[in-house]
Amino acid sequence: MPLMTYDQARPWAVKIAAAVEMRMMPPWFADPRFGHFANDPSLSAEEIATIGAWADAGAPRGDASDGPALRHWGATWNIPQPDVIVKMPKPVQIPARGEVEYTYEIAATHFAEDKWVQMVEVRPSSPAHVHHAVVYIRPPDSTWLRHAPVGAPFTASMLTDPEERRQAHETTSDLLLVYAPGSAPDRWADGMAKFVPAGSDLVFQMHYTTNGEAASDETSVGLVFAKSPPKQRVITLQLNNHALLIPPGADDFRVEVEGTLPNDATLLSLFPHMHLRGKRFEYDIIHDDRSVETLLRVNYHFHWQLSYRLAEPRKLKAGTKLRAVAWYDNSTNNPHNPDPEKTVTWGDQTSQEMMVGFFDVAVPAGMDKTKFFIRAAEEKKNE
Ligand code: HEM
Repeated sequence: MPLMTYDQARPWAVKIAAAVEMRMMPPWFADPRFGHFANDPSLSAEEIATIGAWADAGAPRGDASDGPALRHWGATWNIPQPDVIVKMPKPVQIPARGEVEYTYEIAATHFAEDKWVQMVEVRPSSPAHVHHAVVYIRPPDSTWLRHAPVGAPFTASMLTDPEERRQAHETTSDLLLVYAPGSAPDRWADGMAKFVPAGSDLVFQMHYTTNGEAASDETSVGLVFAKSPPKQRVITLQLNNHALLIPPGADDFRVEVEGTLPNDATLLSLFPHMHLRGKRFEYDIIHDDRSVETLLRVNYHFHWQLSYRLAEPRKLKAGTKLRAVAWYDNSTNNPHNPDPEKTVTWGDQTSQEMMVGFFDVAVPAGMDKTKFFIRAAEEKKNE
């Protein structure tokens, strides 16, 4: 239901007051004890009280001349008009029912020169069917999915080469961005941008879910370029644990993974990803004395996968130990649990699980993901 005008909001007054008082709305899942986030939409106690008092008073209209001008929302992009829009070259047909294997589509950018992308937004044409979209940058020298078709949809099982089939799910290519319902576009601060080398392709990885109505989808991605070359490049990294094995009925099953930053980097944002049994997700720094500093703890909800953008980007030194911890509820208490009797392992489908802690970092503009993983100490050794 839109809540843009008084007439739209009025019939919902009691529910609005209840939703904000319970802090169910606006949606936000970070535990307030840890971290501060630039995109935290939480209302203050005073704002909540104002809404409650308005509802209690019978939701009066007030003096219309006193109100702010009606805001006009763009019909298309939430970022400024993109410099370039890259659309999946062919629409994908989504059936009415059943599971759909991840669908890939490779779109050539035809960029004649290197590009720095400061803002980026994904727009599915059929958002009701898009569970997630991941857009990867495939530079011209990358061997990733080289024998896969360009410009037409395909799935891993359509690829004949077993190595490429495996590659469909596993890549070191940098992410342009991850989209899930409710996620906001990426806008990097001045002086920071994502890098798309000349001649790159964009690889769309689409996870469609069926909802009883067949549809076709042709997702687009809009890019706004930086006005001048930035000093820092934004890359997306991840802490994964593929080896998860969640026993049937476990209601608070813990899975963790640790990693060490190979080089200095500035941490910008965090994006946890699990499936329907996901319960909590946490990112920590483990200090040398083994004390734990929690950067973010999310009371995870599969329907609300958000990026948590640090209010103050955090400079981290090479060697910093990062840990991601996920908790799963595979019991009957979890209303979203597709099957509490199953032992659950890693897999693409929502009935299987994932444990991915995505995080964005800014590194010097001349660095790429490969160089980033050459450890500063090793480099010194080789000098
Ligand atoms: C102060 C701002 C907001 C208010 C007052 C508000 C109010 C509400 C209310 C009254 C409901 C219905 C609860 C019920 O049926 O009992 C609701 C549900 C919902 N709202 Fe909001 N909302 C706000 C912000 C947002 C934002 C920013 C989003 C999207 C990013 C959003 C997305 C939704 C969705 C998807 C539901 C359905 C949830 C479900 O059925 O599980 N809301 N909201």
